[in-house]
Amino acid sequence: MHLQEAILIFAVMLLPLSTLTGKVTFAQVLGDDTLCLQGFLDALELKDGDLSSWTETALKIPCTGTSGSSLSGVGCNNNRVYSITLNASDLGGTISPSLASCALLETLDISSNHLTGAVPANISTLSYLVNLNLSNNHLEGNIPAELSMCAYLNVIDLHANRLSGLIPGQLGLLQRLKTFDVSDNKLSGPIPLTLSNTSTGAPRFNASSFERNPDLYGYPLPLETAGGLSIVAIVGIGLASGLMSLIVTFTAACVWLRVSEHGYAAQEGKISQLMAESR
Ligand SMILES: *[C@@H]1O[C@H](CO)[C@@H](O)[C@H](O)[C@H]1NC(C)=O
Ligand SMILES: *[C@@H]1O[C@H](CO)[C@@H](O)[C@H](O)[C@H]1NC(C)=O
Ligand SMILES: *[C@@H]1O[C@H](CO)[C@@H](O)[C@H](O)[C@H]1NC(C)=O
Ligand SMILES: *[C@@H]1O[C@H](CO)[C@@H](O)[C@H](O)[C@H]1NC(C)=O
Ligand SMILES: *[C@@H]1O[C@H](CO)[C@@H](O)[C@H](O)[C@H]1NC(C)=O
Repeated sequence: MHLQEAILIFAVMLLPLSTLTGKVTFAQVLGDDTLCLQGFLDALELKDGDLSSWTETALKIPCTGTSGSSLSGVGCNNNRVYSITLNASDLGGTISPSLASCALLETLDISSNHLTGAVPANISTLSYLVNLNLSNNHLEGNIPAELSMCAYLNVIDLHANRLSGLIPGQLGLLQRLKTFDVSDNKLSGPIPLTLSNTSTGAPRFNASSFERNPDLYGYPLPLETAGGLSIVAIVGIGLASGLMSLIVTFTAACVWLRVSEHGYAAQEGKISQLMAESR
């Protein structure tokens, strides 16, 4: 944040100079929307007709006026791209790390598509990011811990993907995080306390944020699936221990019977001895 502000002040100071020389522009100082969107488009696999408004000419000037854009799904503010909303748009391919060049991006919603590959770690350099919705895709790999650098994040929705590995505990440091959903993935290990409980011990995100990850465990998920044990395994263990205690009880009973038989035998022996002596 401080660095961004410093750069901004520096850029404002440079502005009269740059308009003279035409070499340095605002966009180059704080990212580059054209580079960002061009890179994003290049990494996608599109069918004919999808994103047809994303022409080379339109990409050169992503924002028309101060708030409009001729690119479908792109929102502008003060002549800069601040939202990319392309949910359920039939997009395939991967998410380009060049999205990091849309430096003023606040909303990235590319949910409900067919995107594959990883969540690029360097979208974490988007310091104004508020909403991140990548849900309902086929994304793989880890959840980048670097996302914890996006201090304004309110929403991280990654549900229904193929993400694996541990949930980074650093994400719990995001003070403004209101919605966190990683359900329906392949995540494993314990749920970080920073996400399950607040500093006061009150629950932060409930089980619905974490469910349907077979190898994920810990509060707030129900105990039945703790340690990744399936119901079948738990029932099996229950039956086996029941059988064991039956065997132990039976053995003990046999031993006791034998001991008491010995006792009887000994007494009978004494009795017959006594009877013999009394004769
Ligand atoms: C995309 O999401 C917005 C709000 O989240 C919703 O209003 C819109 O209907 C969605 N678009 C599609 C194509 O599902
Ligand atoms: C993001 O990472 C890619 C490679 O992983 C790199 O080429 C690109 O320059 C990075 N972009 C920014 C803005 O950091
Ligand atoms: C993210 O997108 C999905 C599908 O497009 C939608 O159902 C969900 O409500 C969105 N998440 C948030 C937090 O808005
Ligand atoms: C988290 O909160 C729950 C419910 O208040 C509580 O049962 C649990 O012990 C807490 N866990 C930790 C480690 O604080
Ligand atoms: C879990 O939290 C979500 C939103 O935070 C809420 O809509 C849902 O009702 C909660 N579920 C339970 C079982 O408490």
